[in-house]
Amino acid sequence: MSNKPIGIFDSGVGGTSIWKELHALLPHENTIYLADSKNAPYGPKGKDKIIKLSIKNVEFLLKKDCKLIVVACNTATTNAIKVLRENYDIPFIGIEPAIKPAALQTKNKAIGILATEGTLSSELFHNTAALYSNGITIVEQNGNGIVELIEHGKADSQEMKSLLKEYLSPMIKANIDYLVLGCTHYPYLMPLLLDFLPKSIKIIDSGEAVAKQTKAVLVQHNLLNNATIKPKNKFYTNSNPRVMQTLLNENFNAEYLDF
Ligand code: DGL
Repeated sequence: MSNKPIGIFDSGVGGTSIWKELHALLPHENTIYLADSKNAPYGPKGKDKIIKLSIKNVEFLLKKDCKLIVVACNTATTNAIKVLRENYDIPFIGIEPAIKPAALQTKNKAIGILATEGTLSSELFHNTAALYSNGITIVEQNGNGIVELIEHGKADSQEMKSLLKEYLSPMIKANIDYLVLGCTHYPYLMPLLLDFLPKSIKIIDSGEAVAKQTKAVLVQHNLLNNATIKPKNKFYTNSNPRVMQTLLNENFNAEYLDF
């Protein structure tokens, strides 16, 4: 058992969608969330830079004595988790686009993946896509610009509606029946997605699976927190905390910190 915190980081506020899943499943755990919004988006930055930024975030969380780190960012996971696991001696949980469940369940034999350039160009993504693409059309779309809008509090804007129309129309034409959200910012688009997409298209992401995997790894390492005192949940951002605050329940406080 351990009452040390779980560390969570993302290029920005999107990983709070993962934190919500974690907190729902593991409400007794102390958590520290790091939003590197100053450096968002990670997607177009290239592998080396994404690795450097991920290491910076991990170093910060290790100084805070985290017992496990959740890389709540598909772009950082697909580009950097291998290096992180090689260099640090604590468990890491990553997130990748949920290609497998979509590919196994599609009836139309066509699925869509919306993710960042960094994720779609990664080796890890290519390998997983190759594994499940047999007999299935995978329509990949780079969600250029979506993360920036969410980071500026514009998840529900006209600009966002236009971007989604541009990115998703080819998928509808390709007759997909599953849309995979391959970026942790994208669950915040759910209202617009449900509005725009035909009802026959199911939307999936990996948030719940990440929470379950985190729990399993904590159990396996004997690291669950069994203390009954109210846990602490800290949220740090190196940009304007207002955006993160609006995504969090008002019981939780987003703080500015220059890291
Ligand atoms: N939330 C990150 C992800 O899941 C966004 C990456 C970015 O900043 O481009 O990929």
